Amino acid sequence: MEVITRPDAAHAVALVARLLESRVTTNPRCVLGLATGRTMERVYAQLVARGINFSQCKSFNLDEYVGLAPAHTGLYRHYMQQHFFSKIDIEPRNTHLPDGCADDLQRAASDYEALIASSGGIDVQLLGIGVAGHIGFNEPLSSIMSRTRAKALTPTTRLQNAEMFGGNVDDVPSRALTMGVGTILEAKELILLATGAVKAEIVAKAVEGPITSMVSASAIQLHPNCKVIVDRAAAAQLQGREYYDFVFANEPEWAEYR
Ligand code: GLP
Repeated sequence: MEVITRPDAAHAVALVARLLESRVTTNPRCVLGLATGRTMERVYAQLVARGINFSQCKSFNLDEYVGLAPAHTGLYRHYMQQHFFSKIDIEPRNTHLPDGCADDLQRAASDYEALIASSGGIDVQLLGIGVAGHIGFNEPLSSIMSRTRAKALTPTTRLQNAEMFGGNVDDVPSRALTMGVGTILEAKELILLATGAVKAEIVAKAVEGPITSMVSASAIQLHPNCKVIVDRAAAAQLQGREYYDFVFANEPEWAEYR
């Protein structure tokens, strides 16, 4: 794992956008794993502004709410349309999210896994992190081997996401369909982005704490090609900061990004 600290959120977001652009430029048929949340809105704005050619890419989102009507604006499908898909040249039929509106969620989950596999797997998976340590909607106690499935959301997560539902926590769905931790770990590369002081404690737990299903993001420590990009505020509780900065300042692979 590498941890890159940038001076502020704008620089952290810009670095993530540059990394993704380089992946798509090198491999125009790249299979992208995408994430939602407020942090990612800025990443999508940057990717759009860069005018990247996504016409041959496929995408798979981490998760989707369960139980909302297909036209509900709280759906992550809507979020993705609004912030990204409607603004780039990706083929709509190549954009995928788990089907949280399906009658048979178990079937929808296994279909999603099969679709990822038949697309050759995810080349690069973008990740945010919830304050309780989830990646996707893998709430505490999610098995590190878990696959795509329905998961009950914690009260903390529902509160955190209430803004997208007019500020009313009761309107936030209580379940979501999410890629499992095991599904995420199969992506060829992981890029986790976290910004702001509110994420400092959980970033330190995920990066430097024990690997535990209580903090599903800690499973990224098992991945051989994982980058964690943070701003200074989110890096504040990392013990090894000095070494991580040294790596970024000295390793040749980072020369063009410094
Ligand atoms: C939601 C998503 C997560 C995301 C998290 C962080 O819960 N399911 O994938 O990481 O939000 O959100 P934010 O960037 O708004 O802090």
